[in-house]
Amino acid sequence: AVNIAKLRGESGLITIDPGYKNTGSTKSAITFLDGEQGILRYRGYRIEDLAEKSTFLEVAYLLIYGELPNQSEYEKFSREVTTHTLVHEDIKKILDGFPSNAHPMGVLSSLICSLTAFYPNSLDPNRSAEDVNLSIVRLLAKMPTFAAWAYKNEVGHPVNYPDNSLDYCSNFLKMMFALPAENYDVDPVVAKALDQLLILHADHEQNCSTSTVRIVGSSHASLYASISAGINALWGPLHGGANQSVIEMLEAIKADGGDTKKFLDKAKDKNDPFRLMGFGHRVYKNFDPRAKIIKKAADDVLAKLGVNDPVLDIAKELEEAALNDPYFVERKLYPNVDFYSGIIYRALGIPTDMFTVMFALGRLPGWIAQWKEMRENNEPIGRPRQVYTGANERDYVSINKR
Ligand code: ACO
Repeated sequence: AVNIAKLRGESGLITIDPGYKNTGSTKSAITFLDGEQGILRYRGYRIEDLAEKSTFLEVAYLLIYGELPNQSEYEKFSREVTTHTLVHEDIKKILDGFPSNAHPMGVLSSLICSLTAFYPNSLDPNRSAEDVNLSIVRLLAKMPTFAAWAYKNEVGHPVNYPDNSLDYCSNFLKMMFALPAENYDVDPVVAKALDQLLILHADHEQNCSTSTVRIVGSSHASLYASISAGINALWGPLHGGANQSVIEMLEAIKADGGDTKKFLDKAKDKNDPFRLMGFGHRVYKNFDPRAKIIKKAADDVLAKLGVNDPVLDIAKELEEAALNDPYFVERKLYPNVDFYSGIIYRALGIPTDMFTVMFALGRLPGWIAQWKEMRENNEPIGRPRQVYTGANERDYVSINKR
């Protein structure tokens, strides 16, 4: 703590904690996380139980409204979400303006932000709870449409419109993969695996993207604008972008001859910026409970789909080597959720640069729940202070005298 207020002649202290390693930004009743014990619970429910027994839409309801839905609440909610999957036809014109090499995360955040234009009453910070709820439903419903369309733009295929007879994940998969000239039947194994991955990503308390959503929303910016900002925060390779980087790293190791030790040594070399992607976590210091579930799911899904992926063998070798290496042990660096999620996405046929979009699809209910909690609790605008390290007062020098 530096007493800069005293330097300014005021009373009071400013704490400085770069990266907020020990600073809570809010109180929250949504997600409990114990990094030492490797515990993760949504609204009190164990992540292991939810991943095994629940569905993504049910988890979304739980996170956003606080309780698991009963049968009729669940049916009403799913019906509402499926009714709003279609997007305004003019949004397709925005999509058409993107070059095909646009990263789908940039396309996704732009399309989500465009909802502020198509639903301008969402800009009113004092709108009714019912109206806010409509925005929530619209977001959950339209996100898979946008995500699949961002992919279609990339590959240059015509977009598919939603099929509301399908469940959430099957509808998304059909919009992603169906081609006009071919029949496409969603593989239930793929849809189930995707549903489980989305549950595991659905919330993770005050991480970088969630804090972004809360801080943008704290200025009373609209829900759509706040979620769009969260997507951009998630994009970076130190956060959601890690799942894409993991596969790229594993492929690079394979292309280099498969010498995992060489890459382990590179990651330990402090003169080399290379880090072992998918290892380490700001909060989990013993294991990431999601990584445990996902590792097993990766084995199951690959076996069920009959996929034999040499990249998975490299992943397992790397994990084994790191877990027995003093550098990683001393720093408590364990595989995180993204280490294995990319392998499953690959097996499901999702292209690498769509991995972070998949993460965004999963994290959406968490972002919404956190935004809603922040607004309902009437939290003040997020406005951190700083410790100034620049020049003292000095006189202006005209340009011809510099
Ligand atoms: N490879 C090699 N060394 C690492 C790694 C890694 N993946 N992660 C951390 N370290 C080292 C650091 O160099 C540092 O070493 P030092 O004490 O000798 O200087 C020490 O471990 C602590 O690392 P920090 O960067 O201070 O830890 P922080 O909590 O700030 O970072 C993070 C956490 C960003 C996740 C980091 O571990 C990382 O970059 N991992 C790789 C990227 C990744 O997988 N991100 C996904 C995160 S999970 C998610 O968003 C879903």
